[in-house]
Amino acid sequence: AAVEPFAVPLTVPPVLAPSRRTRHADYYDITTRRASTEILPGARTDVLTYNGSFTGPTIRARTGRRTVVRHVNALDMPTSVHLHGGNNPVEHDGGMMDTIAPGRRRTYVYENRQPGATLWMHDHAHHMESEHVYRGLSGLYLLSDPGEDRLGLPSGKYDIPLVLRDADFDDAAAMVYTMDDAQNRTTILVNGRPWPYLRVEARKYRFRLVNSCNLRIFVLALSDGSATQHPVRQIGTDGGLLAAPAETPVLVLSPGERIDFVVDFSKYAPGTRLTLANMLGPGPTELVGQVMRFDVGERTPDRSRVPDTLATLPALPKPTVERAFELNMDEPGTGGHQAYINGKTFDPDRIDTHVEWGSTEVWTVTNKSATVPHNFHTHLVQFRILERDGQPPYPAETGRKDTVLLFPGQTAKLQLTFDTHRGVYPYHCHMIDHSAMGMMAQMRIS
Ligand code: C2O
Ligand code: CU
Repeated sequence: AAVEPFAVPLTVPPVLAPSRRTRHADYYDITTRRASTEILPGARTDVLTYNGSFTGPTIRARTGRRTVVRHVNALDMPTSVHLHGGNNPVEHDGGMMDTIAPGRRRTYVYENRQPGATLWMHDHAHHMESEHVYRGLSGLYLLSDPGEDRLGLPSGKYDIPLVLRDADFDDAAAMVYTMDDAQNRTTILVNGRPWPYLRVEARKYRFRLVNSCNLRIFVLALSDGSATQHPVRQIGTDGGLLAAPAETPVLVLSPGERIDFVVDFSKYAPGTRLTLANMLGPGPTELVGQVMRFDVGERTPDRSRVPDTLATLPALPKPTVERAFELNMDEPGTGGHQAYINGKTFDPDRIDTHVEWGSTEVWTVTNKSATVPHNFHTHLVQFRILERDGQPPYPAETGRKDTVLLFPGQTAKLQLTFDTHRGVYPYHCHMIDHSAMGMMAQMRIS
């Protein structure tokens, strides 16, 4: 099924309406079920969905106000719903082994005691998460806080999520899933549509990028087809707003990472077409080298702004423990299909790291693979990147992070404080084909 790029309009995922609201909480009902949907123009594709929508729906939540989500699993296999980036007690974290059996229901409660951020709901059922997420079990959770409201950033219809992913379609438009297949997933989808276009007014927009791919890394730049650079202003990372906007020529996003950025289209003449181009393979450049297109329209009034100060990041307490983690997997072509953290594949019965509640630690994480990029994601904790290969982190990654990209041979030093919930939580590579192959481990915080 050949698809022309920029032939279909971008759609925005539906915002779920609460089924009930009380003074302190919003209640939602989500059924996980199969559906058939139009992804490629004129064709039907079978997918797994939250409430029938592909890409999944959005929940809008407020810091300090509780969200209660009742999930019904109408599939014939177990599911588990993880709120990626959320700070939640273990029983509401959606762990790998803590699954919802077929036909059963489960209620997750999110207290939303954390700053506004672009969070991501996705399946986490052990060994199935990679195929489940690939087939569609992925939705947005946009948390906002009063401090953010006061900033005057572009909002409402000028605040648009862009959920990126790739997929492999066969000639009948069916999605093909093969574990650890990075080569053939060459159709790029934004909010569930292939290479869409978006008509924008000539004013400022806030975009929330989510990389929901299983394996693909994006290095994105705005391009008008010439060599001219069009830097954008990044305002947020995984866990919320940066301290200050960071002007950046590229946006680098590995699976699980989020970036909030603002583009001021009033700098461009009406009629200008800007593509969001991707500079990184694998796959043929004509396909994977582009993501979507912005078609700039007429100038419209714009009272939004991007202040020089966005948020106050918490001070970094003095660390008392240092640990090292090495990510590795059987190299492609060797016949092995296992992936490791510190030489071990995941064992749900093993606790790999014992952390003392209240402590601050420095974790040095190294990608030991010769050719394969990895990343490193912690549940529960938003960490800070102290160093990358001995250098200070890029300005765009100085905020709260829960996922950090590591190209082959790279090392990152992370600082983590464990002062919220206790219990057993995982950390893993978020190239989720790799975590399904064993690149996952567990920490007990007590
Ligand atoms: Cu986004 Cu353990 O996951
Ligand atoms: Cu990996």
